[in-house]
Amino acid sequence: MISPEQVLLALKNVEDPDLKKDLVTLNMIKDLKITDKKVSFTLELTTPACPMKDMLKNACTNAIVHLVDPEAEVHIDVTSRVTKPMDISQLKDIRNIILVSSGKGGVGKSTVASNLAVSLAADGAKVGLIDADIYGPSVPTMFDLVGAKPSARETEGGKTLILPIEKYGIKLLSLGFFADPDQPVPWRGPMASNAIKQLFNDADWGELDYLIVDLPPGTGDIHITITQSFPIAGAVIVTTPQQVALADTRKGLAMFKMPSINIPVLGVVENMAYFTPAELPENKYYIFGQDGGKLLAKSFEVPFLGEIPIVQGITEAGDRGAPIALDIHHPVSAAFASIAGRVAQQVAINNAQSVNC
Ligand SMILES: Nc1ncnc2c1ncn2[C@@H]1O[C@H](COP(=O)(O)OP(=O)(O)O)[C@@H](O)[C@H]1O
Ligand SMILES: [Mg+2]
Repeated sequence: MISPEQVLLALKNVEDPDLKKDLVTLNMIKDLKITDKKVSFTLELTTPACPMKDMLKNACTNAIVHLVDPEAEVHIDVTSRVTKPMDISQLKDIRNIILVSSGKGGVGKSTVASNLAVSLAADGAKVGLIDADIYGPSVPTMFDLVGAKPSARETEGGKTLILPIEKYGIKLLSLGFFADPDQPVPWRGPMASNAIKQLFNDADWGELDYLIVDLPPGTGDIHITITQSFPIAGAVIVTTPQQVALADTRKGLAMFKMPSINIPVLGVVENMAYFTPAELPENKYYIFGQDGGKLLAKSFEVPFLGEIPIVQGITEAGDRGAPIALDIHHPVSAAFASIAGRVAQQVAINNAQSVNC
């Protein structure tokens, strides 16, 4: 007979490479059942897109077969329970708020935010997206929701809650839903800050694993409001490789690291990294310079999350209102999926350091 103690002792030899602790200590082994030689359990990972899924499954099977019983038949189901930092009391059903930020406008912040949301949702996560760009809200266009108006509902306590609009499995709210797209919006600091806070506090988000926030470019009032008002899991920084963009990105990065703000930087995404003509698929042209984002990440000692090439389809998909990552066969979707996986991984690593596992 194989005993649960033997199995758990064997699994203590398998370590999560990100969290640097064994799976038993991390409390990732659930529903352990043993009948004769059949051992089954659920491995509960901390991100839905854990890139190490198969490696960990194999390591568990090997540990049981080699250390407990060579004839053991091991069956492992993998699920995920997205973790969250411990100090979140407000917004209790939202596990992780992730900011998408850039030094300059036009570098692809909204493109990355939208496709990140789509890729995380494709991995099975519950995802929301707030478009907090007071200067140029683009989520309505990118999700084919121009002119849409969210409805509201009254709670039993008499509070009015805005209902996010759901599209492609993502819950969305944009400042653009509340303004006439053809009128300039004379946002002043306090007015914009209040509007933003409402999108977080007065909306019926339900349970979310990730709430992605598309910030305005630069480092302004909205950044201060959001970072001071809500518990933030981390920031994703988007840049293009040109020196002018990098100089501004540097300032943006430095802001998150300031002691008074102190938000973990999950990493840097280099957008429009190179161009590949359709007729010469092997050729990469580094129009804006090479590796700028990678070197920036290195100099700030933050992770490099990946690069996205210049692809005509990205613009077309954005303008059409269906982010390109929805098309899983498009080659660039894999790049967005890989970035989403890394973001989820970084969030899980940070949370593991602040949560007592
Ligand atoms: N990798 C890319 N390839 C081609 N076009 C892109 C790419 N990234 C962004 N774009 C396009 O560039 C424009 C600006 O991108 P956007 O995401 O709106 O930038 P931001 O939010 O930083 O202002 C949009 O038209 C978008 O479709
Ligand atoms: Mg934008």
